[in-house]
Amino acid sequence: MLTIAVSKGRIYEEALPFLQQAGITPIDDPDKSRKLILQTTRDDVQLVIIRATDVPTFVEYGAADLGIAGKDVLLEHGAESLYEPLDLGIAGCRLMTAGPVGAPPVKGRLRVATKYVKTAQRYFADLGVQAEIIKLYGSMELAPLVGLADCIVDLVDTGNTLKANGLEPRELIANITSRLVVNKAAMKMKHQAIQALIDQFETTLAQR
Ligand code: ADP
Ligand code: PRP
Ligand code: MG
Repeated sequence: MLTIAVSKGRIYEEALPFLQQAGITPIDDPDKSRKLILQTTRDDVQLVIIRATDVPTFVEYGAADLGIAGKDVLLEHGAESLYEPLDLGIAGCRLMTAGPVGAPPVKGRLRVATKYVKTAQRYFADLGVQAEIIKLYGSMELAPLVGLADCIVDLVDTGNTLKANGLEPRELIANITSRLVVNKAAMKMKHQAIQALIDQFETTLAQR
């Protein structure tokens, strides 16, 4: 049995064509079902539906053999413990700093709101900028509006969320797409099945 970890929402939607071309169609729709383990049209493959940020954890511990996770999540988790054989090119966006439109440069310590604490710490340390990182779990864009932070580190796609809140994108930290990740032990123990799946995903990629 192969277990694949995916999150609901955009990653699931965009990963479906890859799964389907490998003969994997979930029996239940994760948006309608309350089930967290989805059987599929392949007896030897099941999906576990988890939060996007939990995918590296499930795969690292072998609770799932494979997973699909955003590079943002992998950068934050630290991906040394996982194989990352394939860039699926889905859920594309940018991890950026952003702040209020036209705000003057901050004197002294920069207050940064983000859910990407480690990535932000690393980014500002590399620049030699003194930053105080304020951990949030969502709605980062609100923080500068209410005086909680000077700027944010968050994902930007269309830029609509920034614009709607009077913020502007500043520096690019990383271009983001979702990756296939594999548990290291599973890669050895279930090599044939996993390699076949990687090959099928690669074929789908090549057809795009
Ligand atoms: P979450 O509940 O963690 O926010 P999402 O489904 O919104 O879950 O995000 C999952 C992944 O999709 C992120 O880790 C990122 O890689 C990517 N992503 C998030 N927001 C966007 C966006 N606006 N456009 C494109 N990709 C995105
Ligand atoms: C993501 C991200 C930004 C927004 C950027 O939020 O956290 O807020 O998308 O996209 P844009 O540049 O196209 O506006 P998401 O829609 O996933 O909402 P949530 O994570 O807060 O539920
Ligand atoms: Mg989101």
